[in-house]
Amino acid sequence: MREGQMERCVLIEMLSFAMLLIILSSNANNNSNLHCHDIQGRFSVVKHRVLVDADSTRPGQDGSDNDDHERDVEALLSFKNAIILDPMQSLSTWNASGSEQLCSWNGIWCRKGTQRVVAIILPQLRLEGTISPSIGALSLLHTFNLSHNSFTGRIPPQLRNLKALSILDLSFNGLEGSIPTSLADCMDLQLIRLSFNNLTGSIPAQFGGLVNLKQLRMSYNGLVGNIPISLSNCTQIQRIVLGENNLTGTIPPEFGRLGMLEILSLSDNHLAGSIPISLSNCTQLQRILLDWNSLTGTIPPEFGRLSMLEILSLHSNSLSNCTQLIIELGHWLQ
Ligand SMILES: *[C@@H]1O[C@H](CO)[C@@H](O)[C@H](O)[C@H]1NC(C)=O
Ligand SMILES: *[C@@H]1O[C@H](CO)[C@@H](O)[C@H](O)[C@H]1NC(C)=O
Ligand SMILES: *[C@@H]1O[C@H](CO)[C@@H](O)[C@H](O)[C@H]1NC(C)=O
Ligand SMILES: *[C@@H]1O[C@H](CO)[C@@H](O)[C@H](O)[C@H]1NC(C)=O
Ligand SMILES: *[C@@H]1O[C@H](CO)[C@@H](O)[C@H](O)[C@H]1NC(C)=O
Ligand SMILES: *[C@@H]1O[C@H](CO)[C@@H](O)[C@H](O)[C@H]1NC(C)=O
Ligand SMILES: *[C@@H]1O[C@H](CO)[C@@H](O)[C@H](O)[C@H]1NC(C)=O
Ligand SMILES: *[C@@H]1O[C@H](CO)[C@@H](O)[C@H](O)[C@H]1NC(C)=O
Repeated sequence: MREGQMERCVLIEMLSFAMLLIILSSNANNNSNLHCHDIQGRFSVVKHRVLVDADSTRPGQDGSDNDDHERDVEALLSFKNAIILDPMQSLSTWNASGSEQLCSWNGIWCRKGTQRVVAIILPQLRLEGTISPSIGALSLLHTFNLSHNSFTGRIPPQLRNLKALSILDLSFNGLEGSIPTSLADCMDLQLIRLSFNNLTGSIPAQFGGLVNLKQLRMSYNGLVGNIPISLSNCTQIQRIVLGENNLTGTIPPEFGRLGMLEILSLSDNHLAGSIPISLSNCTQLQRILLDWNSLTGTIPPEFGRLSMLEILSLHSNSLSNCTQLIIELGHWLQ
């Protein structure tokens, strides 16, 4: 095993001098076959799905409890009030006199047959302002997507009241302050995307309680502290993307429990210690990105078992072998 591994390292080093972009593509039963492809072609365009409650549709109809409806209207109007700039007039249909048309307001989705809000989807609208705590009153909210705007201020801790929240995407804004630990009260959370903000503080260890979590993306912030070991309790998780922060400590060997893990991206932090051999238990791993850290030791030969692995990026560490790996990343990293 070790011999094969060494061969591979040498090959990677040779190739990396010649090419900037390399994918290692190993076929299922024979990891000594390496192929190089241009990464751009495969990854430069990543289409994201908008996931909405299967139940939801628009516009809504009768059948909802009127008080709940009124509460949703008020919450949305307060949310609008906290937006100071709406250059594309995206929220012009949101007004009190139009509250009966709540379900046809731009960006709003209701539960089928009701006037209750299940999704707010307002990405890429150049909205500026803060996120009103009033959002916490939307008791059926399932999807909250404000990505690619210019929201500033903090993530309101009142989001903890959103017991139905499954998808939270606040990436690509200017949010600051720490991530509210109380977000872990939203037990249905499956996707948390907070990449490309100015968030500080540490990653809440309480997120380890989110048993349905599939994606945790918080790259390009100013997060500090350790990677919580508790995340190893999120056994459904497929993507852990925490690159470009100021994280310290080691990579938890407990991550070897994450049998669904496909992407582990921790590039450009201050992580030290060795690469846990236990990661070789995560047989679904496709991308391991650990470059620009202070890792020591060697590449575990056991990684030879990872038959799905496409990208292993380890350059710019203090690894004693294979330190010349140059495997550049594509745009898919958020
Ligand atoms: C793996 O590939 C190498 C090179 O192509 C070949 O020599 C070797 O027999 C293969 N091993 C297995 C187990 O298929
Ligand atoms: C939020 O919306 C953006 C823009 O449409 C999209 O790319 C992204 O995938 C959405 N987020 C989620 C979690 O679906
Ligand atoms: C209020 O919104 C409705 C649609 O929701 C629209 O028809 C109406 O013109 C709006 N009224 C004002 C005063 O903006
Ligand atoms: C983060 O803060 C810095 C300085 O305070 C600022 O220059 C930068 O634009 C901010 N980033 C975002 C995404 O708002
Ligand atoms: C994770 O699971 C362990 C037991 O396996 C438990 O002791 C720990 O409290 C859990 N942590 C969280 C944050 O749920
Ligand atoms: C990390 O910390 C250094 C100072 O130690 C600071 O200069 C840098 O901006 C920080 N990076 C991030 C992404 O916050
Ligand atoms: C990884 O798998 C091995 C058996 O293949 C087992 O002994 C070990 O405890 C596992 N490690 C983790 C962290 O799950
Ligand atoms: C690193 O590789 C060299 C051969 O290139 C080998 O002699 C040495 O034992 C390796 N170091 C470790 C720590 O595996």
